[in-house]
Amino acid sequence: MLKKLKKKKKANVLAFTLSSTLLLSGLTFDMASAQSPNSSAVQENQTSTVQTSSPYLTDAASIDRVIQAMTLEEKAKFVVGVGMPGFGGNPPFEVVGAVGGTYGIPRLGIPELRFADGPAGLRIRPTRPGQTQTYYATAFPIATSLASTWDTATVEAVGKAQGNEVKEYGVDMLLAPALNIHRNPLNGRNFEYYSEDPLIAGKMAAAMVNGVQSNGVGATIKHFAANNQETNRMSIDTVVSERALREIYLKGFEIAVEESHPWAVMSSYNKINGIYASQSADLLTTVLRKDWGYNGFVMTDWFGGNDPVEQMKAQNDMIMPGNTTQSSLIKTSVESGKLDEKVLDRNIKNILQVLIQTPEFKKYQNSDKPDLAAHAITARKAAAEGMVLLKNDKMPLPISKDQKITLFGNTQIETVKGGTGSGDVNAAYTTSISDGLKSAGYELNQTEFDKYKTYIDDLRSQDQYKIKPSSWGEDFGKFIPAIPEKPLTDNEIASASKDSDIGVIVIGRNSGEGADRKVVKGDYLLSDAEEAMISKVSAEYHKQGKKVAVILNIGGPIEVASWRDKVDSILLAWQPGQEAGYAVADVISGKVNPSGKLATTFPEKYSDVASANSFPGTPVDNPTQVVYNEDIYVGYRYNTTFNVKPAYEFGYGLSYTSFDINHLNISEGKKFKDKLKVSAMVENTGDLAGREVVQVYISSPDGKLEKPAIELKAFGKTKELKPHQRELLQFDLNAKDLTSFDEEKNAWVLEKGTYTVKVGASSEDIKETATFTVDQDMIVEKVNEALAPKVEFERLTK
Ligand code: BGC
Repeated sequence: MLKKLKKKKKANVLAFTLSSTLLLSGLTFDMASAQSPNSSAVQENQTSTVQTSSPYLTDAASIDRVIQAMTLEEKAKFVVGVGMPGFGGNPPFEVVGAVGGTYGIPRLGIPELRFADGPAGLRIRPTRPGQTQTYYATAFPIATSLASTWDTATVEAVGKAQGNEVKEYGVDMLLAPALNIHRNPLNGRNFEYYSEDPLIAGKMAAAMVNGVQSNGVGATIKHFAANNQETNRMSIDTVVSERALREIYLKGFEIAVEESHPWAVMSSYNKINGIYASQSADLLTTVLRKDWGYNGFVMTDWFGGNDPVEQMKAQNDMIMPGNTTQSSLIKTSVESGKLDEKVLDRNIKNILQVLIQTPEFKKYQNSDKPDLAAHAITARKAAAEGMVLLKNDKMPLPISKDQKITLFGNTQIETVKGGTGSGDVNAAYTTSISDGLKSAGYELNQTEFDKYKTYIDDLRSQDQYKIKPSSWGEDFGKFIPAIPEKPLTDNEIASASKDSDIGVIVIGRNSGEGADRKVVKGDYLLSDAEEAMISKVSAEYHKQGKKVAVILNIGGPIEVASWRDKVDSILLAWQPGQEAGYAVADVISGKVNPSGKLATTFPEKYSDVASANSFPGTPVDNPTQVVYNEDIYVGYRYNTTFNVKPAYEFGYGLSYTSFDINHLNISEGKKFKDKLKVSAMVENTGDLAGREVVQVYISSPDGKLEKPAIELKAFGKTKELKPHQRELLQFDLNAKDLTSFDEEKNAWVLEKGTYTVKVGASSEDIKETATFTVDQDMIVEKVNEALAPKVEFERLTK
């Protein structure tokens, strides 16, 4: 049911004025005014001759004096980056491919910092003119895959390795992790994000930040906030309730801030309830700093927002990548009294407090030689850990080494390591699925493999299919034009089915920054050729009494319901990074028993997605506004509350063994005071060693606020359990964990009534339940009023 949301206060309906240079999605920037580091160097020399006995930045205690000693011009330049390297006359940085740099003031001991992407690994250019040394970085599994591990230790290990590459390649801050919510499966950047659930997103991001920052380099959590689509991402106005913001879209950031203290936050491109995120004092001062106590600094997303003065006031401390128009405007605004210089001082202090922790400030001598071999092992383990076994009827998987495999599908050769855009990584290699299986010792049907190889090589030699540098430049990886699936003749399939013991079909997808996915064949839906491949291969193998498995090498959900019954097994490999083939072989062979669980729902059909009707906004042909009518009912919260059956539900994933989850105990008794201790026993009841994830959901009573049917409140993963081995997992919940957000009270409230704790192996596979009661309504935490919608809109209610 859709219910009208009343405006909280009388406010003007926002008029949407869009700056023409910022309208386009993708990287759009004003090259003419991009600031050049060279010109700033000239300024530095001029000022340094005037001020000789300046204070010097040595530590936290010196910061205030250094700020006092800065000229207004220096201040205005310091809060604006030095421009996009390699564009608009800006020379590339020494670390080629780093996308952001800060303005240095040597006379005050302030060095220039370097920032580089991104979520699946450090994105820098792997080669430099005139050098033989290479600068490849490790391509780790995409964030959605990492989240599917449900294992924060694995994610922290990836972060640690990633951060080491940041440090050893001479970069100060990583522009990752990204943790926006999977509001809709079509968001082209979902692969960079973890989950549809804010607890998973927050816990995974915190683990990643802790890993990265353990190296003494910074992490940047992005894109803050409610940035859930690429369509018109730089101008779209996200209209969303305060409750949905607090419970869904901000929650992950709140967890990450609290549990990992990221050095930086990147504000997002979009508007939230009429105001650009980067210009929203509600978001960046009231929520982030006052409510959450954040003390790092905030940078814009690249070319985000349209008013540098408003950005400064909002406490968006640094504008990236920066141009001279912005710094001049900031300077003249202070001179004219439009901007208080104290605002600049405050923002500069936020940045300097981080800057004094950076490798550059500490004069760290980077080696340019991170241990890529060790990091490849970390990437491979994480990739295997994140794979989700969706189907395995009568156990065709694992495949023993004496079984001969025929691989079908172009993606067996052109395996996709990760998505495109700033989330890409320039890795030294990607191990294809065919190579991975071969190196694991499998015999592949060579005749069929050769046909695929010849077909792909032929097409790739044609101009239209040639692999080129990304249209955004070489730093952003390669543009790989999609090639049509190789057609299969009936005879070819028939002889393959006789010549091998099992058929394995690989389906691949890619997407990336700048565009959303579409519900069309070849994208969300199977192409006709893929559909035919699955149908015909399955029919022929089944005729021979043989099995067929599908490997999904994808970055986000595709339609599976129409074809999954035709095949025997489905392994969701995600986009597993550069070690893709090895990690797939680890799981296919049973060397690793799959233990990944979906952190994002696979809908039965696209129209079952709660936001299907509102994504990506209105007007449909060129959206300016997207209304989050589904409110708090995102992902499984929607499916479970409104009884919409998904194809594969949140939390789902099979194993080669089986587990029992029992002995649920809530130890603080039946009456809730301020803590809840939950424990449950996991037993491996099958024949193989493996790991299981325990998911703790809570069903809260409807009170003044209605509640989703279930909400994930905690999760944990066992160690590898041998057959019949057991492990007790324990979870501590506090009052805040159980609250909902009351917009009228501006508070996290715990409403009285009976609560049910549900432990299970997925959102639909609940194994045991227990109840406790809350005697009276409690205000657990008051927060400041912020981010109220300015327009009336319909909200989904039960
Ligand atoms: C992306 C950010 C990225 C930045 C720098 C922007 O287009 O949205 O995630 O960090 O570019 O590459």
